[in-house]
Amino acid sequence: MYENNRLKVFSGRANIALAEKIAHHLGDSLGRATLSNFPDGEISVRIDEDVRGRDIFLVQPTCPPVNENLMELLIMLDSFKRASAARITAVLPYYGYARQDRKDVGRVPISAKLVADLLTTAGANRVLALDLHAAQIQGFFNIPVDHLYASPVLNEFVRSLNIPQSDLVVLSPDEGSIKKALMHQKKLGGAIAIVDKRRSSATETKQANLIGSSLEGKVAVIFDDMISTAGSVVGAAHVAKRNGAREIYVCATHGVLCGQAIERLRDAPIRQIVVTDSIPVPPNKQLANLMVLSVSRLLADAIERIHYDRSVSELFE
Ligand code: R5P
Repeated sequence: MYENNRLKVFSGRANIALAEKIAHHLGDSLGRATLSNFPDGEISVRIDEDVRGRDIFLVQPTCPPVNENLMELLIMLDSFKRASAARITAVLPYYGYARQDRKDVGRVPISAKLVADLLTTAGANRVLALDLHAAQIQGFFNIPVDHLYASPVLNEFVRSLNIPQSDLVVLSPDEGSIKKALMHQKKLGGAIAIVDKRRSSATETKQANLIGSSLEGKVAVIFDDMISTAGSVVGAAHVAKRNGAREIYVCATHGVLCGQAIERLRDAPIRQIVVTDSIPVPPNKQLANLMVLSVSRLLADAIERIHYDRSVSELFE
């Protein structure tokens, strides 16, 4: 795709398969680096090829094990900085610690800002992120951030279902996701409804009322940025079922799938769950109705555009 020996994609150990696919779309192989752990658990990094003057794209979602992956990213950034790379872009298909993004009670951190500072201090000159938990996290960085959406990939899946417009209801699992749901509805058509979700803890949510269009006899498609413990989407699916939906689909960018997620999803009235490969889904989490779609082409296109100083937002027009 490109003939340029300046751009190079490297990967930490968080999602090597995705990074390899990105490099492949760019007509290249991954940059060589040796990553291991010292006997005491500290991370050892060595970049095994010359990167002086190169445009480096380092792929590392900060998914579980979050602290390990984050630390590895920081140490790799430091290695590229000290090896005189011309520019380093931290490619974050998933940005962990994003949910602590404001001080809403006393004596709590703003971890999303702290991580932004850490990345910059370690050596990132730019960030390429995918479906940040909140778009305003971009403002925590004093370096350029390109923010991608997996929506084209997820919408393509929904279109492949050939749901008649009159049957489709885009369902927002909470009020925080209304904007996202409206974005999907604009592209897909259909009606819109919202679940009234109250969160009682990090792992427990309560859903009761449905606001908006009726779901009686309809196909509900729930969109969320992530499935973490799956309380949000499973709760929304139950509300949809109780309100007469005849089929329910769930589409989310990030399959964090931690805690009770798999048990909850297994027992839920959901026809199909779709996530992307922003985070690897290990075999023990691959439910029969779980589909993983790749965002590698999207990320590769964005990397190419950043490298050649072309518009990234054009990807979503
Ligand atoms: C809520 O603010 C988010 O958009 C997600 O709905 C939430 O983080 C998912 O978490 P869980 O799967 O644990 O309900």
